[in-house]
This record gives sequence, C-alpha cells and structure tokens, in this order.
Amino acid sequence: MNSVETDTLNIQLDPVLDNYAVMGNPVAHSKSPQIHLAFAKQTNQKINYQSILVPAGKFTTAIQLFMEQGGKGLNITLPYEYDAFNLANNLTTRASDAKAVNILTFKHKGIIEGDNTDGIGLVRDLKRNRFQINRKRVLIIGAGGAVRGVLGPLLDQNPESITIANRTVAKAESLVDEHDAASNLVAYGLTALGELGSFDVVINGTSSGLMGELPALPVSIIDKNSCCYDMVYGDSEPIFIQWCKSLGARIALDGLGMLVEQAAESYFIWRGIRPETDTVIAMLRDA
Ligand code: ATR
Repeated sequence: MNSVETDTLNIQLDPVLDNYAVMGNPVAHSKSPQIHLAFAKQTNQKINYQSILVPAGKFTTAIQLFMEQGGKGLNITLPYEYDAFNLANNLTTRASDAKAVNILTFKHKGIIEGDNTDGIGLVRDLKRNRFQINRKRVLIIGAGGAVRGVLGPLLDQNPESITIANRTVAKAESLVDEHDAASNLVAYGLTALGELGSFDVVINGTSSGLMGELPALPVSIIDKNSCCYDMVYGDSEPIFIQWCKSLGARIALDGLGMLVEQAAESYFIWRGIRPETDTVIAMLRDA
C-alpha cells in the first residue's frame, strides 16, 4: 500500500543501450525485467530493461520523461492499462477490442503505438500445453478487464462455445453484447452454471485468487477431461488451481506461461525476433 502513496518518480535510462521498462504500481514484484533480460541474452542483444514505479496521477509525466530520454518501449501493468489505452495515438485492433494496452512502442516523430499482447499470450500458452480450444466448450469465469483482453483471441480459435460467467451477471452480458456477431458466446451467473454440466476448458479470469478467495462455483463444471487455467500466477499455487486438481481435472495450470508468452510477443514487436519461451518459463519455475 505504501508504494501507492509514494510520489517519487525516478526515471534514469541507460545513455548507450536501447531502453525498455515496465511501468505500474506496485511494480517491484514484476518478473518482466527478468524475462526480457533473459530474452535479450538468448537472442544476443544488448538492451536495458527496468521496472519503474509510477505514483498515482503521474502516468502521463512518466511517459513524457521516458520518451524525452529516448526510451523505446514500455510494458504497462496495473493500474495503468486503461491510461495507456487513452494515451496511445495508434492502437492495434487487439488493443482497441481489449480497451486496454499492455505495451507501448515509441516511434519516430513522437508516435505512441499501443498494443495488447495478453490474449495472444494466453492462446500461445494454452497451445503449448496442448489445451484444445477448436470446437470445444470453453468457460471463462470473470468479466473484468483481464477477460475483455483475451476474449477476441480466444474466439479466433474457433471454440464450439464460450460461456462467460460472472458474479455480477450484467457485466458478463455487456461483454457478450460487445461481441454481438459471435453467436457462440453466452453470459451466465456463477451459480446458474450448475445447469450446464462440465466444460472442456475452464479459465479463471477473476481477481479473486489475489485475495485468496475462490469464486462460488458449482463443482459440476469440472470433470476428469477438463483442462483448467488460472490467468493469475504467484509464488504458491493459486487456490483455483488447487480446487480444479481436487476435482480431478486433467490439467490445471497457473498463468506464468501466459506472462512469458505475452512478454515474448512484446519482445518480438520491439526487436523483430521471437524468443524461445520454454527455457524462460522453466527458469522462473525453478526460481
Ligand atoms: P481485472 O482487470 O483483474 O479483470 P476487474 O476489472 O476489477 O479486474 O475485474 C475483476 C473480476 O473478478 C470481476 O469479474 C469480478 O467480479 P464482479 O464483476 O462481480 O465484481 C471478479 N471477482 C473478484 N473477486 C471475486 C470473488 N470473490 N468471487 C467471484 N468473482 C470475483
């Protein structure tokens, strides 16, 4: 909490190397510097990547200072994804669909390009772990910013259906309305999910795990064929993953791989090289 209240903004870039950073609040916990420096080592590139704590109300100033010092690109984390979305002068389709930006790239003439690599990061990690989405019944729990960010790329994988279930049903309904062309997308409340049987893929996109809470879900959504994923990761196994395993799910994985995959996509956007991710995920798991 103290970090939220600090008003010290300290930006000092390397005068020689290409500079990148992650901005957020809090940001000390971020694994992005470790991930990007591992990508740089692996691809024989010399870059500077740091984390920058941005005090409340200082986001625009922070971006200006970073740009003035010649910074090349930023990853944006909580709580600034929407500010970054508003600040970018060019948005990719996936960023405008997500209404959130997790990567800014500073181009010549002061152009700021905003993109969102979360959805592609999730899809790549699901594929790497052999989750089938194509023609499968997918359940996504939650209807906040994190879910909005991944919905388009998941729909692109041609699922039989995607059910969005949220504690506040109206938020799930409005997400479905935003994708009104997708007839295989439906909104539900959490307890009403009991009517639908089990799902092939179950993705937790709520923030409840950060408070150590489990959404109030019926156990019938999971059977021994279900592949389960929590978009959150932490030092210990997320409570949702523990719950899925206790119900006998076929696979239950946290979001560490998604974090690395979205970073790999950022690295590709900035450096034009796609880094290999397996060893970086393994390195973080070992740590
Ligand atoms: P984020 O950007 O992480 O998605 P958010 O936009 O605040 O954050 O959304 C948080 C999501 O987690 C919402 O879907 C929220 O449900 P409500 O819309 O009903 O608030 C969900 N959530 C948070 N805590 C929860 C809990 N204890 N049980 C169920 N859902 C929870």
